[in-house]
Amino acid sequence: MFHLGIVKDVTEQKRLAQQLIISERLAVVGELVAGVAHEVRNPLFGITTTLSALARRLADRKAVQPFLDVVMTEVSRLNYLMEQLLEHSRPVRLDTDDSALRVVIAEVAEEFRGQAEKKGIKLTVEYPEEVGYPRVDRRKMHGVFANLFENALQHTARGGEIRLASSREANGSSQVQIQVSDTGAGIAVENLNKVFDPFFTTRPNGVGLGLAIVRKTIHDHGGSIALRSDGGRGTTFTIKLPLGS
Ligand SMILES: Nc1ncnc2c1ncn2[C@@H]1O[C@H](COP(=O)(O)OP(=O)(O)OP(=O)(O)O)[C@@H](O)[C@H]1O
Ligand SMILES: [Mg+2]
Repeated sequence: MFHLGIVKDVTEQKRLAQQLIISERLAVVGELVAGVAHEVRNPLFGITTTLSALARRLADRKAVQPFLDVVMTEVSRLNYLMEQLLEHSRPVRLDTDDSALRVVIAEVAEEFRGQAEKKGIKLTVEYPEEVGYPRVDRRKMHGVFANLFENALQHTARGGEIRLASSREANGSSQVQIQVSDTGAGIAVENLNKVFDPFFTTRPNGVGLGLAIVRKTIHDHGGSIALRSDGGRGTTFTIKLPLGS
């Protein structure tokens, strides 16, 4: 028994030491990624502006337009990737506000209403005042709902519905629950554990950082995010956010 005890102790120590090594490594990788993303952004900005000037000069040369379009698309993809990488590796500094969530939800709903109508998808947003508003960072939380709505739109066919519903946690804890659900394609069981991983994507042009950043933002706000999907019958993301003191 005594011997066993010691073995267990050492194992625990080893585990902690390994964990420390892993988190230190991750921190170094994070810094490196942020540094690279930052350095790449400047030349990329130069390429983007020069390309726009070139496109204007060559506006009457129809034969070169398809080539310019390809370069433009690829450059904006790189821009998006660098922005997302920076967002993901930046140290967290939340600029929170009582009314931010109310503003953000209204903003995102407005932004996506047009796209939803065009695709023939019903968009419903329900956030009654009495649910209460957690303090959130407006810019970061905008990213959360924009990503969730964008994903929902990408995976829902004409005639479907996207709904944001909210409630106060029933068990008396001071938490707000927000659900974003769609009636779309759903997520395959084998992918349920992967969708929050950085760079996991099933879309040909996807980067796979959307949900990784959504989860990080929710965790940075002291909240949680869970996912339920019935294959072929839609997806629901459930976010819980603490109502501040
Ligand atoms: N509402 C949804 N319905 C079905 N599948 C979804 C939904 N939301 C996410 N997914 C799946 O999770 C994957 C990861 O989503 P995530 O937003 O992280 O990346 P992405 O949309 O592929 O790329 P991007 O970085 O451009 O957002 C998607 O490729 C898709 O397979
Ligand atoms: Mg996405």
